Amino acid sequence: MKASMFGSAMAVLMLIPAWATATPDAARLEHLLTQDCGACHGLHLTGGLGPPLTPQALAGQPRASLIATITYGRPARAMPGWGPLLSAGDIAWLADRLLQGRPTP
Ligand code: HEC
Repeated sequence: MKASMFGSAMAVLMLIPAWATATPDAARLEHLLTQDCGACHGLHLTGGLGPPLTPQALAGQPRASLIATITYGRPARAMPGWGPLLSAGDIAWLADRLLQGRPTP
């Protein structure tokens, strides 16, 4: 498969509504973390426009508050809410992934 075909396959995947998949799709969410979250929080989530999302930076933050921030965003700050785009399972997966830390590629 050519690289360009792979790119459009990924683009199609990103358009599948979150509710269509009951089980969080790890590959899709990893891609989202890098491409979407990474646009503001840095490619390695070490900070950019948004604060770092490393386990060190998030230490002491309750899982529920991370889930609330990702779901609703921070109104009047640059952090968008992802509730309309992702399922609750996806958002919980992302919060857990951030708390665990991502291996550096
Ligand atoms: C348009 C830029 C932008 C995007 C895209 C974005 N964020 Fe944020 N995010 C921010 C900013 C800015 C803040 C800090 C808000 C504040 O000052 O309270 C933030 C805060 C957060 C926090 C709270 C961090 C803390 O220390 O309290 C979490 C968790 C978070 N973002 C997760 C995510 C996740 C997961 C994604 C992708 C699904 C994402 N963000 C996408 C800009 C963004």
